Amino acid sequence: MKLKFLAIAVIVFIVYSCGPKMPTPVTEVVEVPLTPELAEGKDLYQNNCAKCHKLYKPESFDKVEWKKIMISMQKKAKIDDAQSLSIYNYVTVGSRVDEERSKLRELM
Ligand code: HEC
Repeated sequence: MKLKFLAIAVIVFIVYSCGPKMPTPVTEVVEVPLTPELAEGKDLYQNNCAKCHKLYKPESFDKVEWKKIMISMQKKAKIDDAQSLSIYNYVTVGSRVDEERSKLRELM
């Protein structure tokens, strides 16, 4: 009898501790938080780069490709160097390397 009570107590304890106390796993959407500068780049990108063609996905090209693209598209979009760099920073945020960025600054 004592054992049965103990078994129930253990089961109740397990159910209780595994049940409501277990935090439900929260599936967090991991998004790269956009700094004001990057948000501006996104804005510039959406407003200047969809006039002649669809907006290309940032991940469609790597840093090196985007660098070349921005050089030719800057002329087409008639934007200044700062705007071009801002867009470049936005589209390469996922693959951004500081070294590449400073190289681009030298180019512009
Ligand atoms: C005046 C029209 C025009 C504007 C504005 C323009 N593009 Fe383009 N874009 C083109 C044309 C035409 C092509 C295809 C031929 C080429 O690559 O030059 C192209 C091609 C591209 C490609 C594909 C390159 C590849 O290798 O497949 C990307 C990416 C691109 N543009 C990005 C941009 C971005 C970013 C901007 C904004 C800064 C922009 N474009 C603004 C006309 C434009």
